[in-house]
Amino acid sequence: MKTIVINASPRKKWNTAEIMQSAQKGAESVGAETKYVNLYDLSFKGCRSCLVCKLKDKTKGKCYWRDDLSPLIEEILDSDALLIGSPIYFGEPTSEFRALVERLIFCLLSYDDGSSYFTGK
Ligand SMILES: Cc1cc2nc3c(=O)[nH]c(=O)nc-3n(C[C@H](O)[C@H](O)[C@H](O)COP(=O)(O)O)c2cc1C
Repeated sequence: MKTIVINASPRKKWNTAEIMQSAQKGAESVGAETKYVNLYDLSFKGCRSCLVCKLKDKTKGKCYWRDDLSPLIEEILDSDALLIGSPIYFGEPTSEFRALVERLIFCLLSYDDGSSYFTGK
């Protein structure tokens, strides 16, 4: 089982990192192949609402924007499990966590029948 473990804190050695490293060890202890990512090492933005991912051609379901997050999105979609840890900043997960969720989830939503739902990719 391939598992991606993401620390969505800017701090690489503090609370969230400790928890996520522990989660990584736990996953590995039951045989998972893991990859650990410090999200703040990557340079990326959230969804730009370009809607290229909604076009009915080969770009459908794929995020058009290319930046440091692009290969990680591919790896996540190719993995079996995703573990994300984020500190709480003003009652919400961090801005980088939000940007990741926007990029990861929006391209998978289908508008085909007028409702929004996952493409099942
Ligand atoms: C900008 C900012 C906003 C924060 N807002 C909250 C908050 O709303 N609620 C809370 O309980 N802690 C808040 N905290 C504290 C962090 O969530 C807490 O220290 C967390 O454990 C930090 O995680 P880290 O050690 O992995 O960086 C905030 C910290 C920062 C820097």
